[in-house]
Amino acid sequence: MSRFPASRPRRLRRNEALRRLVRETHVAAGQLVQPLFVVPGRGVARPVASMPGIAQLSVDRAAEECRSLADLGVPAVVLFGVPERKDDRGSGAADPDGIVPRALRAIRDAAPGLLLITDVCLCEYTDHGHCGVVRDGDVDNDPTLEHLAAAALAHARAGADVVAPSDMMDGRVAAIRRTLDGAGFAHLPIMSYAAKFASAFYGPFREAAESTPRFGDRRSYQMDPANGREALREVALDIDEGADIVMVKPALPCLDVIRAVRERFGYPVAAYHVSGEYAMVKAAAERGWIDEGRVVGESLTAIRRAGADIIITYFAKDVAQGLVPT
Ligand code: PBG
Repeated sequence: MSRFPASRPRRLRRNEALRRLVRETHVAAGQLVQPLFVVPGRGVARPVASMPGIAQLSVDRAAEECRSLADLGVPAVVLFGVPERKDDRGSGAADPDGIVPRALRAIRDAAPGLLLITDVCLCEYTDHGHCGVVRDGDVDNDPTLEHLAAAALAHARAGADVVAPSDMMDGRVAAIRRTLDGAGFAHLPIMSYAAKFASAFYGPFREAAESTPRFGDRRSYQMDPANGREALREVALDIDEGADIVMVKPALPCLDVIRAVRERFGYPVAAYHVSGEYAMVKAAAERGWIDEGRVVGESLTAIRRAGADIIITYFAKDVAQGLVPT
C-alpha cells in the first residue's frame, strides 16, 4: 500500500458518480421485510402511539397494506397477531382460524407474490404475556415446545411461506422442524430468532403486539446482552436443529454479533431493526434534531455492512417509496 502523497483516499470521494462506483454496501427494498400487527375487527387501523406511522390493522386493512407493499417492491412481511382472547397456555396461537391464519388467507388473495413470514411465539396469546407456558413463576421449556410446533403447523396449513420462532426456548427449532416434516411441510423454511437478546429496545413492540409480561421479564429465556460468544453457540444450535436463516436481534446494538455470525456460518443472516430503534429515530426527527431519511439510510447501511443479508425493519415501506437515501 502506498502512502501519502502518492496515496490520497479523497481522490475517490470527489463526486457522487465516483462515490457510487466504489460504494461497497447497498440497501435495496428487495432485502427488507416489513412487520405488520394484525388485530380483530374490520376496517381497523389503530395507530401505535410509540411507533408513529405504524398501526395495528384488521385483516382486511392488512391485506390492502400488503397489496401496496407488494406493488412498491417490498418482497416480504412478517405477521404478528393480536388475538380476541388470551389464556394461560396461549392456545389461540395454534387455532387454525386464529388471527394469523385468517390474515394469511386474506393476504394471499390480495398479494399473491408477497412472501408471508409468521412470527411463532406465545406471548401475544398468553394472558400473562410470557413466551411460553408458565410453571412456578417461570416459563417451562419442554411443555412449551409442542405449543410452538402446533402454532407453526397452523401457520403452515394457512399458507405461511416461512415460519419464524421468536420465543427463545431451547430445542424449539428441532420441535418445529419435526412437526412440519411430519405433516408434509418439509419444504417450508425456518427463520429462527437465533441470537435474541433480552433488550429494552422491544418496548414499543409490546404496545403494538399487546404482549407486555404481567410479571417479571424475559431474562430467563432471552439472552444477556453482554454475551457475544454465547450468541454464536445459540446460532450453532439452531443451525444444527434445522434453521435455514438465522436472525440476530436487535440490530444496531448487535453489529458485532451480526459480523461474527456472517463470518462463522455459511447461512443467510437476518437482522431485526426493532421497534425501539424505530421509535428513537421517529422521536428525534419529530423534534427536528436529526434528518430522519439520512439516519435511516445510514442505519440500514451499517446493518448490511456488518453482514446482514436480510433486514426486518419498520422502515421497509419508506425505503421502497424512495424516502430513504441509500
Ligand atoms: C415476540 C417478539 C418480540 C419481538 C419480536 N417477536 C417481543 C419480545 O420478545 O418481547 C420484538 C420486535 C420489536 O421490538 O420490534 N416474542
